[in-house]
Amino acid sequence: MPTSPSAQGARAAVVCGLGAWLPPRAVDNDELASRIDTSDDWIRTRTGIRTRHFVSPGMPTSRLATEAGARALESAGLDSVDAVVLATTTPDRPCPATAPLVAHRLGLTGRPAFDVSAVCTGFLYALATAAALITSGAAEHILVIGADAFSTIVDPEERSTAVVFGDGAGAVVLRAGGAAEPGAVGRVELGADGSLADLITVRAGGSETRSTDVPPSRADAHFSMAGQEVFFHAVTRMAGASRTAIADAGWRAEEVDRLVGHQANARILHAVGERLDIPRDRIVIHLDRVGNTAAASIPLALAHAQSTGGLGAGDRVVLSAFGGGATWGATALTWPDLKTA
Ligand code: ACO
Repeated sequence: MPTSPSAQGARAAVVCGLGAWLPPRAVDNDELASRIDTSDDWIRTRTGIRTRHFVSPGMPTSRLATEAGARALESAGLDSVDAVVLATTTPDRPCPATAPLVAHRLGLTGRPAFDVSAVCTGFLYALATAAALITSGAAEHILVIGADAFSTIVDPEERSTAVVFGDGAGAVVLRAGGAAEPGAVGRVELGADGSLADLITVRAGGSETRSTDVPPSRADAHFSMAGQEVFFHAVTRMAGASRTAIADAGWRAEEVDRLVGHQANARILHAVGERLDIPRDRIVIHLDRVGNTAAASIPLALAHAQSTGGLGAGDRVVLSAFGGGATWGATALTWPDLKTA
């Protein structure tokens, strides 16, 4: 039964479509252990990851993003939106942004399209940006994509990072609606601390090193992460931001049905759950199948949970992430009745 705008509450951005795509090439822990000094047991016990997908040569992030975006549009029953926002840390090129190319390939040439860079928190930064464009009245429908191909920036011989990441893309479509509707995105709690910039970085390749004539070392040319320190900050910030998002929604922690956190490490997600008093059976785990897919992680986990019955209409969901920058964020929403494409 249609409801009046006032019954739906203030104008809000409402999730109305969801899509995901993984590159076909699956790489399990044993395959990695055949190339570098690691083991399936170490990877599983330290992270929870069993397998992940890697792009094939010549498959850039735009391909992942286009595939996921097309599926999200199909799920929403739309062939057009007013803007495309792409969260990624692995753009096709340092210049220009990747979103215009993705929008063009989706038949959306002429629409505004831009990238958002907040590493593993990128999807939540993009979601907040798109939701603000909708609530301001600047747009009615926006495609929000998280896509990353970290296999292209990690050193395949550096065991501490090579085993952790995977490639993929996930996307949602937001439409203008009411704040009381299922799917309405609550206020997105965001934060950043640039004093932690060195904890998660690709040091070379930007203006800082290109402004000198010194060729980068192998380590500087690849992704690096201070794992234990990042672990600590991830737990602290994801728990804090989630607590704020739960309070903003007017919920108590025991009323949260699903915690969909950035899928970096199962131990991080369990520690966040413990701090929030959210039991393990309410924590969505998808990293076992895909690893840490950076900006794609949350929409991929949502799509997997929805398609396997782990997420249903009416569930009270908290999304939470921590990533390079450092950046972090969280939001809460009641899950809508969606068709996954
Ligand atoms: N296989 C076997 N041994 C390994 C491997 C491996 N793949 N990697 C490291 N080790 C060894 C180390 O050499 C070390 O050995 P030592 O004790 O002899 O020196 C030992 O294992 C422990 O290494 P740690 O780095 O302390 O391992 P830890 O338990 O911290 O796990 C991990 C590493 C998985 C990276 C963890 O720290 C982690 O998940 N960190 C947080 C990641 C995160 O939250 N990321 C989100 C943001 S990422 C982003 O924004 C892109």
